[in-house]
Amino acid sequence: MKTHSITTPRLILRQWRDEDLEPFWAMGQDAEVMEFLLPYADRADSDANAVRLRNHIDAHGFGFWALEASGVAPFIGFAGILNVNDANPFYPAVEIGWRLARPHWGKGYASEAAEAALTFGFETLKLDEIIAFTVLANIRSQAVMHRIGMTRNPADDFDHPRVPDGSPLKRHVLYRIAADARHLDD
Ligand SMILES: CC(C)(COP(=O)(O)OP(=O)(O)OC[C@H]1O[C@@H](n2cnc3c(N)ncnc32)[C@H](O)[C@@H]1OP(=O)(O)O)[C@@H](O)C(=O)NCCC(=O)NCCS
Repeated sequence: MKTHSITTPRLILRQWRDEDLEPFWAMGQDAEVMEFLLPYADRADSDANAVRLRNHIDAHGFGFWALEASGVAPFIGFAGILNVNDANPFYPAVEIGWRLARPHWGKGYASEAAEAALTFGFETLKLDEIIAFTVLANIRSQAVMHRIGMTRNPADDFDHPRVPDGSPLKRHVLYRIAADARHLDD
């Protein structure tokens, strides 16, 4: 499978490298970054997650790519599109997602990467729809979803099957964007 990378004005969405594992682990130790995410048990668990993302890109040619900010930093987080797990209530589907190290918030990097990933999903993969989901309280992530033209139907809100019952992270919102709805407002 050809592994695609994508270049935007400020970013490179690329395959993961071994050197990314250390800053990925550090990002996962930041309480602000992980506020709405399940923590990694230890460094091995963090590495295993990164390797799963790398393997998805190897297998499918796309995935949650490592993000490089050209001339700024070789690894600032990840963003991209991924086949949802079969435990997800919306399986089968392709989801879009992002995570940035805290110093790189507030610069538009997540939205820039996400736009490029949507273009890849619709124009190269010819997907009909891309979804996104996050914890109800994760307003910053939902702002990215809005910014790239995704919409939420509260009737789609759901309890994430992998989050323990009773956890404040259990309730999720779902956003969607259809290929033929993209940039209708432009
Ligand atoms: C979700 C997350 C990626 C959003 O990051 P973000 O920096 O808020 O989003 P963007 O990169 O799109 O940046 C948008 C902000 O940059 C500003 N900005 C500055 N320069 C910009 C530019 N050139 N272009 C666009 N926006 C720019 C925007 O005004 C906006 O600011 P605001 O939040 O004050 O309104 C980040 O908060 C994060 O990593 N969170 C932890 C992980 C997580 O929860 N991931 C999602 C799980 S589902």
